[in-house]
Amino acid sequence: MKIQIINGPNLNLLGVREKSIYGSASFDDYLIDLRKQYPQVEISYYQSNVEGELINKLHQVGFSYDGIVINAGAYTHTSIAIADAIAAINTPVIEVHISNVYKREEFRHSSMLASNCKGVIAGFGLDSYRLGIENFIKS
Ligand code: DQA
Repeated sequence: MKIQIINGPNLNLLGVREKSIYGSASFDDYLIDLRKQYPQVEISYYQSNVEGELINKLHQVGFSYDGIVINAGAYTHTSIAIADAIAAINTPVIEVHISNVYKREEFRHSSMLASNCKGVIAGFGLDSYRLGIENFIKS
């Protein structure tokens, strides 16, 4: 089974950025742990701060991988182009958020992507990504 994790803008700063909201673990350390928990799954990771690069990655893996877990960061709330890319590919996509976006500013309550996704997971810290992977394994 092949799963792609995609992180969008500012998520390269996990562990450094707004620790009270996003925690103090780096994504690289979390990824080591995640891969140990699911040795039977090939977990690929990609991060970019650039909208078009996120779209290119969706196109690249979206016809061959079994699942995509995406945290598009702030592009979640704004990007019709990423929403269209998710609609264009065959691989199912799960939208995840580290924080509970519904407890935060109102502009974070809406997602351009969610209606094109299999489901949305928010508010479980980095465990949100594992919950997404777990769903792909079970289905
Ligand atoms: C986020 C929530 C977004 O609103 C924010 O812009 C992020 C991170 C999260 O994981 O909680 O960059 O997607």
